Amino acid sequence: MNIDVVTLFPGAFVGPLGEGILARARRAGRVGFRLHDLRRWGVGPHREVDDAPFGGGGGMVLKPEPFFEAVEWIRERYPASRDRVILLSPQGTRLGHDVARRLSGHDRLILLCGRYEGVDERVREGLADEEISVGDVVLTGGELPAMAVIDAVSRFVPGVLGRGEAAQEDSFAGGLLDFPHYTRPTRYRGLEVPAVLRGGDHGAIERWRAEKALEATTTKRPDLLKTGGAGEESASRARRG
Ligand SMILES: C[S@@+](CC[C@H](N)C(=O)[O-])C[C@H]1O[C@@H](n2cnc3c(N)ncnc32)[C@H](O)[C@@H]1O
Repeated sequence: MNIDVVTLFPGAFVGPLGEGILARARRAGRVGFRLHDLRRWGVGPHREVDDAPFGGGGGMVLKPEPFFEAVEWIRERYPASRDRVILLSPQGTRLGHDVARRLSGHDRLILLCGRYEGVDERVREGLADEEISVGDVVLTGGELPAMAVIDAVSRFVPGVLGRGEAAQEDSFAGGLLDFPHYTRPTRYRGLEVPAVLRGGDHGAIERWRAEKALEATTTKRPDLLKTGGAGEESASRARRG
């Protein structure tokens, strides 16, 4: 899979993409990341990318032409059979487990990052396949949301996670939250690792984990257990032990 990002601030991605699992995935050729400076497609001799809003009001709006031309250039230069253009926007579909998994099925994503008051509406109407939000809050730009999409989607690309990092055991995968994790030392500041995890009885450990995952979900995210959801099924399995 390849992910192309169109942004006014390509430098914002260098740190996060250069560390840890994403850097390893890139080196191994599992996921390719390409950063494109929106200003390259800026209009006129000053390569303008923004302008004042029609109708008045404060702030600047990112112009449509640079985004359309950037996507055309990317598609011509790096053809892909199943690509998807995503506009990062607080008004979009909320990023979640299922959205990330769905997007990982494409062989290329083109992420468009807004700034200022946002992006000319025609980018949403005529260029983007969908809008994605990272939550009901407004951030200063689309770069951090794009990083969240890149990170979440990459985890579903085969071979990105190593053995023991399986995405299918994490929170949301089976509809429930993850069970609690502990490591050494056994006792720390009066807090102890549950005895069952140290006993070596794998059946008992599995049962304890299922129970704790259900407990965490019931307490912190009861909405995941709603009728008909994946969580409901996992919950009844956990209750049956
Ligand atoms: C300051 S915001 C513009 C907000 C816009 N005026 C509104 O109220 O809907 C600038 C850019 O940051 C990005 N952005 C901000 N919050 C976001 C969120 N929750 N999810 C995804 N992108 C976001 C978008 O790309 C947006 O175009």
